[in-house]
Amino acid sequence: MKVLVVGNGGREHALVWKLLQSPQVEQCFCTPGNGGTALLEKCENLPYSVDDFAKIAESVQKHKIDLVVVGPEVPLAKGITDYLQRYNVKVFGPTQDGAQIESSKSWAKKLMASAGIAIAEGKTFKDPDAAKTYIAKQGAPIVVKADKLAAGKGVIVAQTVEEAQAAVDELIETGFSSLVVEEFLEGEEVSILAVTDGKTVRPLLPAQDHKRIGEGDTGPNTGGMGVYAPAPIATPELLERVQTEILEATVSALRQQGIHYCGVLYAGLMVTPEGDPKVLEYNCRFGDPETQAVLPLLETPLDELLMACIEGRLAEFPPLQWYDGSAVCVVAASEGYPGIYEKGKVITGITEAENLGSTVFQAGTKLNGDKLLTDGGRVLGVTSTGKDFQTAIEKVYGCIEAIDFPGIYYRRDIGHRVR
Ligand code: AMP
Ligand code: GLY
Repeated sequence: MKVLVVGNGGREHALVWKLLQSPQVEQCFCTPGNGGTALLEKCENLPYSVDDFAKIAESVQKHKIDLVVVGPEVPLAKGITDYLQRYNVKVFGPTQDGAQIESSKSWAKKLMASAGIAIAEGKTFKDPDAAKTYIAKQGAPIVVKADKLAAGKGVIVAQTVEEAQAAVDELIETGFSSLVVEEFLEGEEVSILAVTDGKTVRPLLPAQDHKRIGEGDTGPNTGGMGVYAPAPIATPELLERVQTEILEATVSALRQQGIHYCGVLYAGLMVTPEGDPKVLEYNCRFGDPETQAVLPLLETPLDELLMACIEGRLAEFPPLQWYDGSAVCVVAASEGYPGIYEKGKVITGITEAENLGSTVFQAGTKLNGDKLLTDGGRVLGVTSTGKDFQTAIEKVYGCIEAIDFPGIYYRRDIGHRVR
């Protein structure tokens, strides 16, 4: 079997790495890929961007690719699955109508509200003055969100009314014509990535991401600075409720809309102080970096699971097998991220870090001759597994010390809740 993974982050490196462990996968392609996927034996990078659907379809035919796995949300929201399905390509990832669950917060909220799913209460606004009046009436803390894809920069958790109203102006000036204002939910967050064939839904191991740049969960939000799995906050009782009250309810609401959703349903949940799960957001794809901690624990061949979704056989698929123990992933970022940062710094020590007991997933990197250079904000995700969190955390920090590039930054407290 030949598989093409679309995307260029740590998530895509982890997907290719896991797929290549399957006995049936003989070769992978990644487009456009990164330094990490370029260096993998049996993986070839293609030069096409994630939204060049015509070139991607052509490559599928040329290389006789059996399965396409889409990493990021942007091509899904633009309809890559619809496009490739016209050529009878097997694609793991929802069609454009299903991807609205991530690309339109107001659409997702309406869908969930109609299905009686617990969410943060809120309203959608096109008129900034009406949004500001509503904010003044509700009081702070309050959350303001762009209603479209915003590459992780569209959510402002405001501590004061003034801050929330300023966020309205900022988002409108940035070009967002529609905003969601919603209640601030207290609690602990957890990411549940589930796979579905549009009828049956199976959760992967729960993961907890560290979104803030600074230690102690301080400073601006990022795409994610580190993650661990399985997150103990997701007890079997909580997962049971998430399965029926949230995941199954969502898939059935999608079907009622006539949407056949095949892919990852990634629920970003808040577990309230009362212990109730509420949906903060849905994503239509694998999480990054969550995938870099969850996939190393998956024993079931990934290609078989994804094919079962595409072929509508998830109900008959055997229970997922997981390795015992815990996984921790620490992200190494460029100095300045999530603000302005430089690229092109030489990275050293990856082999040493791997020899010490980690898997290094590359995100923002590129190969230049035999040199590996930084090429993005989040540069590497270093993952270690261990019999428990304590072991995995000690191991991962022992490994990441071997890695260097000018301006390397990583949080030293990943997993602080489970240490
Ligand atoms: P989102 O992209 O919607 O997941 O939002 C990014 C982050 O903002 C989340 O991971 C939360 O940390 C925070 N957030 C979003 N919505 C809320 C909310 N209603 N209450 C509290 N925090 C929120
Ligand atoms: N780690 C957050 C995300 O993938 O959206």
